[in-house]
Amino acid sequence: MSLKIALTKGRVERKVIPLLERAGIDCEPLKNKKRKLIIQTNDGKLEFILAKGPDVTTYLNAGVVDVGIVGSDILEEQQNEQYELLDLEVGKCQFVLASTAVFDVNSPERKIIGTKYPIITKKYFESLGQDVEIVKIEGSVELAPLIGLADAIVDITETGTTLRENNLYVFDYLNKVSTRLVVNRMSLKQHSQEIFTLVDNLKKAVFEKNEVRGEKTR
Ligand code: PRP
Repeated sequence: MSLKIALTKGRVERKVIPLLERAGIDCEPLKNKKRKLIIQTNDGKLEFILAKGPDVTTYLNAGVVDVGIVGSDILEEQQNEQYELLDLEVGKCQFVLASTAVFDVNSPERKIIGTKYPIITKKYFESLGQDVEIVKIEGSVELAPLIGLADAIVDITETGTTLRENNLYVFDYLNKVSTRLVVNRMSLKQHSQEIFTLVDNLKKAVFEKNEVRGEKTR
């Protein structure tokens, strides 16, 4: 039986594929998947299930997949204790508080904050001793302060391009984010050998990738 891996589709998927290849996994079927959502490697050992980030943990909790590959932003927001085995060190980004130049984080008025991450946002403002109104947004969060929906946003940024191109500024840096490999505890008992082989190979791949990068910058 194949090891079932829920892989977050989109950005995480694109960043993780080179790492999977470096770990010796044949990713051709994954790269040529077109609109298919379940993809088996040619040797039949792995089955990738392409899912939205928040659904990866739903599948894990339900025990219908063995392994999940998902951003730490999702894990943190869900406050859902997953068994994390490896930081894949790709898909690196950072939570920021951002807005237009006129925003004043210290103003005494109750602020409206737009975000895809209400729990993280609430915790952050609680740490500042501020009670804010949070508006949950599903995407293009940067629009919120631009069209008058919110005073500021809490969102993730990778290159900073979206903020720059929309004349938004960073007012504070919150947690860093990267892609994690998490497992279903029951699967770890049932498929321990396959899972630890996968984790060991990926660990080596992460190490090698960092080595190559180090050599280039040395
Ligand atoms: C994320 C995030 C920002 C963007 C930042 O959105 O919410 O909008 O990436 O990336 P950058 O700093 O490299 O410009 P995503 O692309 O996941 O899509 P979304 O806007 O639909 O949430």
